Amino acid sequence: MPATAHSVTAVMPTMNAAFSYETLLARSPQEKWTPDKRSMLFFDEDENRMGAEEFRTLRSRLYQIREKLPLKKLLVTSALPKEGKSFVAANLAQVMVRQQGRRVLVIDADLRSPGMHRHLGARQSPGLSEYLMGECDEFGALQRGPMENLFFVPAGRSVAGAPELLSNGRLKVFLQRVEPLFDWIILDTPPVIPVSDSTLLANFCDGVLMVVLANSTPSDLARRAREEFQDKLLLGMVLNGIPSSQLSQSKYYYGEAQPSRA
Ligand SMILES: Nc1ncnc2c1ncn2[C@@H]1O[C@H](COP(=O)(O)OP(=O)(O)OP(=O)(O)O)[C@@H](O)[C@H]1O
Ligand SMILES: [Mg+2]
Repeated sequence: MPATAHSVTAVMPTMNAAFSYETLLARSPQEKWTPDKRSMLFFDEDENRMGAEEFRTLRSRLYQIREKLPLKKLLVTSALPKEGKSFVAANLAQVMVRQQGRRVLVIDADLRSPGMHRHLGARQSPGLSEYLMGECDEFGALQRGPMENLFFVPAGRSVAGAPELLSNGRLKVFLQRVEPLFDWIILDTPPVIPVSDSTLLANFCDGVLMVVLANSTPSDLARRAREEFQDKLLLGMVLNGIPSSQLSQSKYYYGEAQPSRA
């Protein structure tokens, strides 16, 4: 219909149109990251870093589960702060893209105490909080680092009202748009006991990986955290930080994922 004095003609950006991986590559120039060499195991070519083998084992367990169940969006959490959630989420993402052609997106969904950008040595914003507040689009929130096929959405700037932002509908839209482009999407989230964000975020994910810090996480709190995901697919526990004295070959051990509903 031709525009008349009484009709409105507007040019809208194609915000809701799907985009391809090629478009994403073109719109996201590779950025320089300076990964923390102490905690990031797969950025150099050394295949035998301590702990690397355990991440390869975790990866194959997840593929075994995926043979039986639809599994792409993984939530990583733990009962308490500082138990290794970001460490596990970031290294799992890296070991997955080490396989030829696998595309992985890791999202720092811990809007209260973001930490993933420090592990990766990437910038913190713009990221998820800006996207959820409508201040940037998907391309603005996504970063591409030096490792092929590994994308990252940092948490963005710290903001109040994380639960409201995470449930305002934009995260669902974001995931719907990027899901077809990636083999795995890994969400790093806040601890379960102090705040409810990870329980909320589990509604957007296919399965939950629970990190337990060896000789540290109190068993009653680990159990309580697990109960929060009763109606979700709890893929298993990742036992982090086993002291070297308790292992013969490897300093760290990450428990295997078993498909089980809690
Ligand atoms: N298995 C491990 N080997 C070596 N360092 C580790 C290991 N697990 C965790 N760390 C280190 O411990 C610190 C805390 O880990 P991380 O940031 O992953 O915890 P978190 O659970 O994400 O914390 P927060 O609750 O603050 O988000 C980091 O410095 C990390 O590098
Ligand atoms: Mg963290």
